[in-house]
Amino acid sequence: MRKVENEILDLIEMRWSPRAFSDEKVALEEIYALIEAASLAPSCFNEQPWRFIVFYDDDQVEKLKGFLSDKNKLWNKSVRTYILILTKKHFDHDRKDNKWAEFDSGTAWGFLSLEAERRGLITHAMAGFARNAVIQHLDIHEDFTPIALIAVGKYGDVNLLDEIFKSSEKSSERLPYKKLIIEKKFTD
Ligand SMILES: Cc1cc2nc3c(=O)[nH]c(=O)nc-3n(C[C@H](O)[C@H](O)[C@H](O)COP(=O)(O)O)c2cc1C
Repeated sequence: MRKVENEILDLIEMRWSPRAFSDEKVALEEIYALIEAASLAPSCFNEQPWRFIVFYDDDQVEKLKGFLSDKNKLWNKSVRTYILILTKKHFDHDRKDNKWAEFDSGTAWGFLSLEAERRGLITHAMAGFARNAVIQHLDIHEDFTPIALIAVGKYGDVNLLDEIFKSSEKSSERLPYKKLIIEKKFTD
């Protein structure tokens, strides 16, 4: 668990992104619960631009692994479930570009990851996959962009991890939060 200076929600302190997944399959109902948690995120105009593709059947999961970056392939061998988060690029009400769609879908991912933490599940977001090839092979409509692929599962055996990942298999450091606050003042 990370050390924080202020009292904040335990789940936020506890969440991190492990790579040592067990090959135990999470019940589909739990995956749906994570998606429901994500769907409660706030969004600009309540557009709810997030969409989710669940990869749960073993053959589909294995096919998806073929699109991962080589480095991600190394630690994804035991992953049994993925959620691909997409975002809808336009507002429905006026068809204009939704410049906040990715921001909102990121919030949804945050909610999803915290609900997973509460359920004793682990999540690991990935940008390292062949996004254009996935769009093409899944025939994803042009209104949607895949944002991140989320591995979901249970914690496994760190000894089975490829050597290169072992030292980083822990919650990572953060910049001191006070350094993130930019001081600005209006001059007149
Ligand atoms: C959008 C996004 C993309 C990421 N892509 C990858 C990835 O392709 N491979 C990987 O091993 N980790 C990936 N990560 C995990 C980050 O490296 C990790 O979240 C970060 O180091 C902070 O660590 P923590 O999640 O354990 O707090 C990604 C995370 C996010 C949010």
